[in-house]
Amino acid sequence: MRSRASGHPISITGLGCYVPERVLTNDELAAIVETSDEWISSRTGIRERRIAAEHEAMSDLALPAARTALEQAGVRGQDVDVIIVATVTPDMAFPATAALVADELGSADAAAYDLSAGCTGFMYALAQAYGMLAGGLASRALVIGGDILSRILDWTDRSTLVLFGDGAGAVVLERVPHGGFLGFELGADGGGGKELLLPGSGSRLSENGNRHLTMNGREVFKFATRVMVTSAEAVLEECGKGVGEVDVYVPHQANVRIIDHAARKLGIPEEKVVVNVDRYGNTSSGSIPLALADAAADGRLKPGKLVLMTGMGAGLTWGSALIEWTHDTNGVR
Ligand code: ACO
Repeated sequence: MRSRASGHPISITGLGCYVPERVLTNDELAAIVETSDEWISSRTGIRERRIAAEHEAMSDLALPAARTALEQAGVRGQDVDVIIVATVTPDMAFPATAALVADELGSADAAAYDLSAGCTGFMYALAQAYGMLAGGLASRALVIGGDILSRILDWTDRSTLVLFGDGAGAVVLERVPHGGFLGFELGADGGGGKELLLPGSGSRLSENGNRHLTMNGREVFKFATRVMVTSAEAVLEECGKGVGEVDVYVPHQANVRIIDHAARKLGIPEEKVVVNVDRYGNTSSGSIPLALADAAADGRLKPGKLVLMTGMGAGLTWGSALIEWTHDTNGVR
């Protein structure tokens, strides 16, 4: 689906993120599996990633991110109407992590649920929250994206182990006088779902007992390089904007080669592209809010700036949003 924003203007008024303390370097991984810093850096651009402590679950990453975002927006937990947590690694299948977060934040009147769209989850959740606010169903939404993928990785499989990390980000969405979201483009190709899956994680039994993240890296790479471009082009066209008008490009942080390819094909110069995959690896639904926080911290996210975000991931899914930034969020973490 693709749509141009038509209801009341809605924007991001608060932004926060959180990553676990533990840094895991490429050299440390090389002591676990047959790999090297040289291979990982040159093929992916990743130098290190964060790994959650044993006692940490998704809600423990979501809460500090959410608290920062609420504080920046000047919104109290009890004033939030809807909380969406985009994740494929919730604390457990149920209760929803969003419900646990709502309880901790004192959001007693909020609808709270989790959303599963792989690494694209944050983009899907943004679009849902936007729709609820623009349509008048809610006034304030808290959208959280994040994952603890280290829990579902096969720590003996070098082809996936080196790519992922743990982290979360959160944004507050509210009505604004003008600016904010201009449009969205979202899609899914379930036929490609077999290229990136977590077998044995639901009602379909794993055929061979494998219960770890399983990926056909080459196929996902081909898919990613295609949709990162087509989705961005679609949302720009829908909103009547040219790529030259984009001030800040926030792509999903999976692999620097995918990011470079997309930026080159789209014609977005390097200085407009936000890259932090070197420090965090692929944090799934945490990736885009973590990158937004970095762009805010380095002064690129200023009111009036046109920001293009594109995510892609398991499903296979993809999603883009175009937003005219309205608030001076500083992305503290
Ligand atoms: N260290 C050393 N060698 C390795 C490693 C490793 N960590 N991993 C794989 N290799 C080997 C392979 O076994 C292969 O060896 P062979 O030629 O003897 O068979 C060789 O390196 C080359 O493997 P390729 O798969 O061709 O490597 P490629 O350059 O394609 O890079 C990568 C692999 C990084 C996985 C790439 O395909 C990629 O980034 N794919 C997209 C992944 C992605 O974005 N996933 C996230 C989706 S979002 C979500 O929802 C989770």
